[in-house]
Amino acid sequence: MEEISLNNLPKHIAVIMDGNGRWAKSRGALRIFGHQNGIKAVRETVEACAELGVGYLTLYTFSTENWGRPQVEVDGIMDLLVKTIGDEVPRLHKNNVQMKCIGDMDALPATARKNMEKGIETTKNNTGLVLNIALSYSGKWDIIQAVRKTASAVKSGEMSEEAIDEEQFSHYLSTYPAPDVDMLIRTGGDHRISNYLLWQSAYAELLFLDVLWPDFRKSHLLEAIKTFQTRDRRFGKTHD
Ligand code: FPP
Repeated sequence: MEEISLNNLPKHIAVIMDGNGRWAKSRGALRIFGHQNGIKAVRETVEACAELGVGYLTLYTFSTENWGRPQVEVDGIMDLLVKTIGDEVPRLHKNNVQMKCIGDMDALPATARKNMEKGIETTKNNTGLVLNIALSYSGKWDIIQAVRKTASAVKSGEMSEEAIDEEQFSHYLSTYPAPDVDMLIRTGGDHRISNYLLWQSAYAELLFLDVLWPDFRKSHLLEAIKTFQTRDRRFGKTHD
């Protein structure tokens, strides 16, 4: 913790929590056992970000493509979500965390959606860490919904075509008002972005870790932030 410079923290951390299935399989258990064991990693990550003073944490919890998994796994993840949100909201609230949901909420089963809405409502005035839970989310989905909102604002005359620029467009993305992602962590050993925050990660520092998500602990996050702080971020420019 002492080796981390608090004035160079990533403002927005995004995480692809991968490896739950393999973690369970290596123990001869069903995939859902891996997801259940991923909750401790979620809790540690949220707590560490809140303690450090990170502004925004966006967790890839369920992608648009994940609907194509076997129904028993989809149902298992949705049940886990309902239970976890129910259990965790009081603790989040106590820690001044504001919970939000990004993604196609309409695609969720009613109980999961209602639970999320309750958590969002309870924590809406909190001023600490903003926790974005990406659910039924994909980067392409996000861009398309922002394009639709932009088109409708132009059509209604609320905005002129000339006013469309990067700043304006970003206001329609589901992550608004979060700034672009500074650091994107993917656990589980694969090296890809998997349709996550495509627009928002334009200049994110990418960290691919071999650790499987259920084994991810606060120490991994702190190590990742240390690595982030050694990166030379030029945003396409030079230092000369
Ligand atoms: C990817 O591992 C993980 C998921 C699709 C689900 C992650 C969900 C949780 C950890 C629950 C989080 C809950 C809250 C409240 C944020 P995988 O199944 O693709 O693993 P594999 O690559 O080893 O198969």
